[in-house]
Amino acid sequence: ADVIDLEWEVEYMHWSPDCIESVVMGINGRFPGPTINATAGDTINIKLTNGLHTEGVVIHWHGITQVGTPWADGTASISQCAINAGETFVYRFKVDKAGTFFYHGHFGMQRSAGLYGSLIVNEVAPKAEPVPKAILSYDGEFTLLLSDWWHQNVHTQEVDLSGVPLRFIGEPQAILMNGRGQFSCSAAAHFNKVKQCNYTATPQCQPQPLHVDPDKTYRIRIASTTALSSLNFKIQDHELKVVEADGNYVEPFSVDDLDVYSGESYSVLLRTKKTSGNYWISIGVRGRKSTTPPALTILNYSPVPWEKHPSSAPPVHPDWNDYSRSKSFSNKIKAPLDAEQKGYKSPPEKQGRRIVLLNTQHTVKDQIKWMINDISLALPSTPYLGAIKYSLNEAFSQDTLHENYSNPDYDITLPRNANAKISDAVYKLEYNETIDVILQNANMLNKNHSEIHPWHLHGHDFWVLGYGEGKFNGTDLETEFNTKNPPLRNTVVVYPYGWTALRFVADNPGVWAFHCHIEPHLHMGMGVVFAEAVDKIKEMDINNKAFMCGFTGDMFRESFGKK
Ligand code: C2O
Ligand code: CU
Repeated sequence: ADVIDLEWEVEYMHWSPDCIESVVMGINGRFPGPTINATAGDTINIKLTNGLHTEGVVIHWHGITQVGTPWADGTASISQCAINAGETFVYRFKVDKAGTFFYHGHFGMQRSAGLYGSLIVNEVAPKAEPVPKAILSYDGEFTLLLSDWWHQNVHTQEVDLSGVPLRFIGEPQAILMNGRGQFSCSAAAHFNKVKQCNYTATPQCQPQPLHVDPDKTYRIRIASTTALSSLNFKIQDHELKVVEADGNYVEPFSVDDLDVYSGESYSVLLRTKKTSGNYWISIGVRGRKSTTPPALTILNYSPVPWEKHPSSAPPVHPDWNDYSRSKSFSNKIKAPLDAEQKGYKSPPEKQGRRIVLLNTQHTVKDQIKWMINDISLALPSTPYLGAIKYSLNEAFSQDTLHENYSNPDYDITLPRNANAKISDAVYKLEYNETIDVILQNANMLNKNHSEIHPWHLHGHDFWVLGYGEGKFNGTDLETEFNTKNPPLRNTVVVYPYGWTALRFVADNPGVWAFHCHIEPHLHMGMGVVFAEAVDKIKEMDINNKAFMCGFTGDMFRESFGKK
């Protein structure tokens, strides 16, 4: 295994992601940031310098479990202090498992500002003897990192979302593929009456075609770091075989199109046709009634020039509100039959502790907030990990949080109207405890509205035990849990007015965020924090450079004064 040494500087720069010049957060002069290409078992060592001048920064390595290095998880106020302007911080962690991952900012709404990039971990090459057999075989691969883009800057968005009354950020101006999209012009101009984009004037928004040869197999790695949008990926006249989800192999299955929620990643295998041609690749918005047009690029067979338009219009995506279609896709994702060979462990048969998390919206001092069990998460100024390591209990609320409905008769079909507050209290998990989480969706403040929320857990993969409609009512439904071949994931969606059940073992000492991956929802408090194996954290070696702020910072300065 290697050590991959990188030196990065984060900075604001002018860029035209959707053919309109904006300011984006880039790394080393690039947007999106550089792709990290590693092999399972490698150590990544990144010297990150904050060149933003007027704000802090952190980077989170989404899907990497950080076993033994919880201080490198890159979550401001949770695993570390934000890196001050002009300062450098070194992330050092191991990528222990092959898969499709990405990284992104995790301070304020910096992910929406464009701070993201791909992180690909390859399988260790099979040894030469006997016959080498890779887990997947393919002739070539592509990486597509999907995002959404607003012309409004994120500072304005943050103020709008916290305002009274709230001003919603609205639909994005463009969907981006590897940071490239088109606003008010189109790659398919002659089919949809929008003007042709001028890529000579703004090459930064020119789509990247996928160049392929006939009669071959390609792996396409797809990940979504959208701020808001649920997406659907489709290639004209081609089937896709799903083989990986969130860095875990799944039992392969074929689809015409696939839903990708923010925080998720997939690999699909594409078998090319025997003859050459050009075909549309389209990424459209689902799950909300959006005005944002799909992002388009071309599947280009050599030797046809990629600029030659396909002879028919881009494919049409399934209806935005066809949830039964989305659910049937989610339910197809299962652990592979040869699970053990592919690094799967089976879940423990029974849970040790069940935490029900009710997702609602409420107002606190006239501000609209997302609530989990009546609490809206506001992060403390001292990172939890340092506060726990040094037993600084005054750094955050020591309140005990609800683990079930505070009102058992609560009607999930009506808007919330109950006590609600803002807090930085955490759930404490015992070492090696088996945890079941039931994510329970409900009505938001508007009547007859319930939204999709893709929930992401740091520090773990979890088994998805199942999805259900309506209100989870306890043990009788447990018999429906899939404990036979549940897929391992790090992000899972909870559908409108439904519930999702997941299980994990608390075997990774650290402090881990668990939150909705929709950036404005997290900003409005939609998350919880798990403090896992507190006693082990106290004994653990952690990188003190991550904790030079807040109460931990004071502690270090005092002990320095005494010397
Ligand atoms: Cu990709 Cu806490 O997020
Ligand atoms: Cu959400």
